[in-house]
Amino acid sequence: MALKEKDLIGLQYTTADEIAEILETAATMKSLLMQGAKKMPHLQGKSIISLFYENSTRTRMSFELAGKYLGASTSNISAAASSVQKGETLIDTGRTLDAMGTDIIIMRHPMSGAAKLLAENVGAGVINAGDGMHEHPTQALLDMFTMKDKLKTLEGINVAIIGDIYHSRVARSNVWGLNKMGANVTVCGPFTMLPVELDRTGAKVTPDMKSAVKDADVVMGLRIQKERQKGGAYPSVREYHHFYGINENVMKLAKKNALVMHPGPINRGIEIASVYADGGQSVINEQVTNGLAVRMALLFLLTRGKKKNETIN
Ligand code: CP
Repeated sequence: MALKEKDLIGLQYTTADEIAEILETAATMKSLLMQGAKKMPHLQGKSIISLFYENSTRTRMSFELAGKYLGASTSNISAAASSVQKGETLIDTGRTLDAMGTDIIIMRHPMSGAAKLLAENVGAGVINAGDGMHEHPTQALLDMFTMKDKLKTLEGINVAIIGDIYHSRVARSNVWGLNKMGANVTVCGPFTMLPVELDRTGAKVTPDMKSAVKDADVVMGLRIQKERQKGGAYPSVREYHHFYGINENVMKLAKKNALVMHPGPINRGIEIASVYADGGQSVINEQVTNGLAVRMALLFLLTRGKKKNETIN
């Protein structure tokens, strides 16, 4: 089986079987990485371009390494150093990359829906590396991979996602993906950061930290997205950390040895105390390692058996 579409836009549009296949393939990729394999032939002859309109360390570098380790030719464009600065539209930029024979475009963009728009206008496969407040599917896939790796299953586990839910594409992708895989998801944050419509996706939505974290197998903090906030979402950093930070008060309510997760980058002392970010329950660095395996799997599955402009029926 391969992925049906040429693109990965979001986990809202991805089936449970497809998610399971990505996670299984990622497990194979991880075992190859653990053996030190960094020069494999799977993507030989394929070209991959990263097109980032927002900053990134983890997503951009892990895609670049994933492509290189599998033998693809990889290039990066940051919008700040491209013809976007001369007024070129997203569609024109995409078509330009398409005309160069690019197989996969990996894009991060501040506007929700930008990845879908690009995908509809190019023959290359498009991977959404984060579009506005909409989705960040590869982050959620690596989060799910990490949970499954540690807890052996996603079915029936309790996941509490805490923080700036409103602005979080990571939260939205995790809610879609985890629900499809049978997990129980609760999202929690102050009312000013809590989109109530998320309850339509099957997640429990609450501003009450105690009920959110009680008996959680996983406690995931989210970054306060200062760049997307207009101010006034919380009274002070100190108060935010007291009520919604991952700290001792929160972790004593979760299951013993509950996993502590965060997509990064971290605002230490705001959404998570350093003692938990760096502590024995933290799997934050493993999330980064697993991100490489998941992105290798995805590049492999999206290109396997496909010519450009072709979806598998
Ligand atoms: N988690 C995540 O997307 O990190 P980057 O912004 O560094 O890619």
